[in-house]
Amino acid sequence: MPHPDHEKNRAAWNEMVDLHVNHMEYRTQEVIDGGSSLKRLELEALGDVKGKSLLHLMCQFGLDTLSWAREGAEVTGVDISDMSIKRANEMVQKTGLEGEFIRCDLLDFIGVIDEKFDFVYQSYGTHCWLSDIFKWAEVVAHYLKPGGTFYIVDGHPMEVLHYDPGMSYFAKEPERTVGQPDYCARDTKIMHEQVEWQHPVFEIVNALIQAGLTIERMDEYNFGYYKVEEDWYSEDGGHYWYPPGGPTDYPLLLAIKAKKL
Ligand SMILES: C[S@@+](CC[C@H](N)C(=O)[O-])C[C@H]1O[C@@H](n2cnc3c(N)ncnc32)[C@H](O)[C@@H]1O
Repeated sequence: MPHPDHEKNRAAWNEMVDLHVNHMEYRTQEVIDGGSSLKRLELEALGDVKGKSLLHLMCQFGLDTLSWAREGAEVTGVDISDMSIKRANEMVQKTGLEGEFIRCDLLDFIGVIDEKFDFVYQSYGTHCWLSDIFKWAEVVAHYLKPGGTFYIVDGHPMEVLHYDPGMSYFAKEPERTVGQPDYCARDTKIMHEQVEWQHPVFEIVNALIQAGLTIERMDEYNFGYYKVEEDWYSEDGGHYWYPPGGPTDYPLLLAIKAKKL
């Protein structure tokens, strides 16, 4: 039985994907032309992926997935959005890279494919869409080979307070929004309802531990991963962004590297 709120997000993401494929914030043409959408943190964290299998969770239209393929990995991407997977498969054609893309709610993904992976990877704007972080961690652990590595780099759960000091870091109820501007194409409103959940760091960490993973390191960063408003600025060629007041006194990005022993 599909999760009703995840299905709402599926419709919202179907509405959003083309806004992103065509937006300069996403480096679609660069990837088609032989470049990469991967940023410094994940490249450093995963290191050499040549000849390794990699599962990309919540892959949208496959830019990072296919960039990992360009680094030499055998890649599979999974995403709930029909339009994401359609565009990802078009990116396979346009880049000539190999990659398998599967449309599935991540929380229903166990058993959908038989393979296990050397790397499970997830990045930038993902955990907030998941209603159950403990179930998520089970999916991560399930798809890792023994000895395999999981890496997530994502918006920090503190991020919500940066945007709205009235929010709770510990909120249990999801946030529901309709007609909110797209996070890239700011002049376009998303008319399908979006449902987002708050997962404090302790829950994310405990979920991974409970799923049997060994956390190797955790990092927090005082910069964000996209240009939220015109006045955000970058010091590294546009890969990471500071808000107008400069580096924040609290983290905007969270990264966790874990192993399945
Ligand atoms: C911010 S985007 C992807 C992050 C990636 N770094 C990017 O920007 O391309 C979040 C993705 O999560 C997907 N998503 C949302 N809920 C999901 C779910 N329950 N299962 C799988 N994918 C989901 C959306 O369809 C969307 O493609």
